[in-house]
Amino acid sequence: MITNEMKQKLVTMAEEASLSAYVPYSHFKVGAAILGEGGGIYTGCNVENASLGLTICAERNACTTMVAQGEQHIAAVAIYGGGKAGEAAPCGACRQFMLEFADKKLEAPILLAGADGEVIESSFRELCPYPFRSFEPNP
Ligand code: THU
Repeated sequence: MITNEMKQKLVTMAEEASLSAYVPYSHFKVGAAILGEGGGIYTGCNVENASLGLTICAERNACTTMVAQGEQHIAAVAIYGGGKAGEAAPCGACRQFMLEFADKKLEAPILLAGADGEVIESSFRELCPYPFRSFEPNP
C-alpha cells in the first residue's frame, strides 16, 4: 500500500525531473518518478534527438535508471507532463517497457499529474489491458 504522502512525493519528483527535459523539437517536457519495491525512487525526463525517432521518453529513462541501480520491481509510477493530468498518460511503448517490471497482478499505481494539481490514479491493469507477457522472465 502506497501512502498518500509517498504518492505526493512521487508527483513532486516527477515534476522536478521534467525541468531537466531536453525538448528543443516538441517543447513538451515530461518527468517520471518510479518507486521501486525496495523503496528507492528513480527519476527520468524525456531526451529528444535531431533524429526524432531516437527520442527517449521520460518513463523509459526513469525505468532504465532504476534497473541500472539494481532494482527490477516497480511499486508505483508518477508522470508529469506540464499540462492536464490526462495528458501525462504514457505512450504505448512506455507502457510495454514498464510492464516488464510491474507486479504480476498489475496493481501498481500509475499517477498522472497535472500542472493544476490534479492527479489521476490509474494502474498497470487499467493502462495495459491484454498485456503482452508471453515470455515470462526467469525469477
Ligand atoms: N513523451 C514522453 O516523454 N513520454 C510519453 O509517454 C509520451 C511522449 C515525450 C517524447 C517527446 O519528447 C515528447 O514527449 C513529444 O512526443
